[in-house]
Amino acid sequence: MLYVDGNWVEPGTAAIQPEDRGYNFGDGIYEVVRIYRGKMYQWEGHITRLFRSAREIKMELPWTEEELLHIANQLLEKNGITHEDDAILYLQVSRGYAPRQHDIPGDIRPVIMGFVRRKERPHADMKKGMTARLVPDIRWLRCDIKTLNLLGAVLVKQEAKDAGAQESILHRDGIVTECSASNLFAVKDGALYTHPANNLILHGITRQVVIELAKKNNIKVYEEAFDTEFLKQADELFLTGTTVEVMPIISVDGQAVGSGQVGPMAQKLQALFEEHIYSEVLV
Ligand code: PDD
Repeated sequence: MLYVDGNWVEPGTAAIQPEDRGYNFGDGIYEVVRIYRGKMYQWEGHITRLFRSAREIKMELPWTEEELLHIANQLLEKNGITHEDDAILYLQVSRGYAPRQHDIPGDIRPVIMGFVRRKERPHADMKKGMTARLVPDIRWLRCDIKTLNLLGAVLVKQEAKDAGAQESILHRDGIVTECSASNLFAVKDGALYTHPANNLILHGITRQVVIELAKKNNIKVYEEAFDTEFLKQADELFLTGTTVEVMPIISVDGQAVGSGQVGPMAQKLQALFEEHIYSEVLV
């Protein structure tokens, strides 16, 4: 069952207004929340970011955090998600529908949509690592807002895929930002490097968790921009994100990263992350 603008509907039966601004302009916001063993992980972080995204696009959400939590819990319940299931929960809010015009209509009501989908954790890729391609970051200058406008992300991901790689690593004039749907870390001499959380990247929740886990374990973290040369000299690279967790990258543009194998830092952070999610959700 999906939740669409206040109604519970079966997949394939939802009606979307042709002039919904999410549909016409990508004018809206979203979140993807991980469900581990039937429980939501980092709900608080996601909902805080959803409200921030709304503020940044001048959209007032007519629901409280509690009401959204209720919708999320009902999505899990109505879709029969149990403690045996790993899944994702998708929530999006479009600005609403009105006769098409670019500026924001005065009397418009946001439209919410949510679904849950069972999704296994990417164990095999986490173990063997993924391949990547460097691609120019063609996205806009407010990547910190989690908007429905994802055409830039779609095109860079496809460019990597067409070149035979699994993921795109993005750079703006040689400065590495993040990936199409995840944040990027480089490892050099035992320390972590990642782009600062400014307007050029999404302030990833997994990124923040990994930074905190690293610091707690005496691993130095530098939130500093680095260039593609530094990237190519890195001992290890890994991505972080709700669905990819801590995902090692073992080659970029066909060249091995470090040894070309999943490195010890990625393995250590994967182990710390594993401990952390189970301590958080299995309470
Ligand atoms: N993507 N950077 C971008 C551009 C993203 O789209 C995402 C998440 C992240 C990682 O953020 P987090 O750790 O909070 O998931 C970084 C989601 C999963 C998606 O669009 O499917």
